[in-house]
Amino acid sequence: MTKVLIVDDEKSLRITLGEFLRKEGYWVITASDSEEALLILHAENIDIVITDIIMPKISGIELLKKIRENFEMIQIIVMTGEPTVDTAIFAVRHGANEYLTKPIDKDSLIKAVGHAAKIKQMTDRQKDLEKENLEYQKNLEKLVAQRTDSLQKTLQSVVHLISSVVELRDPYTAGHQTRVGNLAAEIARGIDFDDNSINLTRIAGYLHDVGKIVIPTEILSKPGKLSKLEIEMIKEHSFQGYTMLSQVAFPCEIAETIYQHHERLDGSGYPQGLKGNEISDEANILVIADVVEAMMSHRPYRPALGIDAALYEIERNSGILYKPEMVNACVDLFRNKGYAIDDNVFEINFSLSKND
Ligand SMILES: [Fe+2]
Ligand SMILES: [Fe+2]
Repeated sequence: MTKVLIVDDEKSLRITLGEFLRKEGYWVITASDSEEALLILHAENIDIVITDIIMPKISGIELLKKIRENFEMIQIIVMTGEPTVDTAIFAVRHGANEYLTKPIDKDSLIKAVGHAAKIKQMTDRQKDLEKENLEYQKNLEKLVAQRTDSLQKTLQSVVHLISSVVELRDPYTAGHQTRVGNLAAEIARGIDFDDNSINLTRIAGYLHDVGKIVIPTEILSKPGKLSKLEIEMIKEHSFQGYTMLSQVAFPCEIAETIYQHHERLDGSGYPQGLKGNEISDEANILVIADVVEAMMSHRPYRPALGIDAALYEIERNSGILYKPEMVNACVDLFRNKGYAIDDNVFEINFSLSKND
């Protein structure tokens, strides 16, 4: 039910107007001055205020201002015995919605209050919709964040699973891909790759030897010298990894980087024998991370060679096999930044992919 507050110092007018409106189905309350009106406004959920302008103590205009400050949705109808245009303009400027001239006839009152009630209903509905919309947006954002987080975790565990399946078949290289991925990401950071490219390089590192899954275990973990055919079979893993990852919805740079991770700057690498700029920056980083990690780790056919030997290898061949910019970033990590290669961290962030 629409609630109407009538404010007028003239008792008979309050009673008459109140009766008119009650008969029309409105809930009506009256106040003899602005102070009483303000008390009622704070206690009741009033929809429409009909107020006189000239009243003792606090004038109707002052009351208008206070209502507008505190109750912006209330519809206000002012009434006065001074029917001048100036008064009307003044009242509207201070927040009145409608203007009635005394003496007030019943029809004008009913019409004005009916109109104000409709507007109030519409603005209330609009406000409710805005609130609902805001609530919906907040819930949606929360839901999207939750889903993204859970998708992220799922993808992370899938990548981890794929990465560890390859290494299960070749226990000598356990943790190799994780360490390569982490090192590659730090080299990428050292040459100011953006977050997205660092992320892609890291994932490529975590999965770079995934193609080894198709190579027989006996060859992978063979302690002795490999035959020419066996070497050729092992070399297949770059292409196999590329083929596998091209078929999943990963950013295409990951498959490409993996394809190139045994290429060398001078064209002496495999499988395509790419040279110089034909090799992507991500792959050039991965090449170095792969070599450094491999030299630092124990292999069935040799003991670990250590970081100094690994850094010596990449520095000696800087500009020949390895891109100097990446060599410098890698050397800087170990010699100046105290970087220690490890496989304790396994983190990925797919939301930054270039194909989003
Ligand atoms: Fe490899
Ligand atoms: Fe590798």
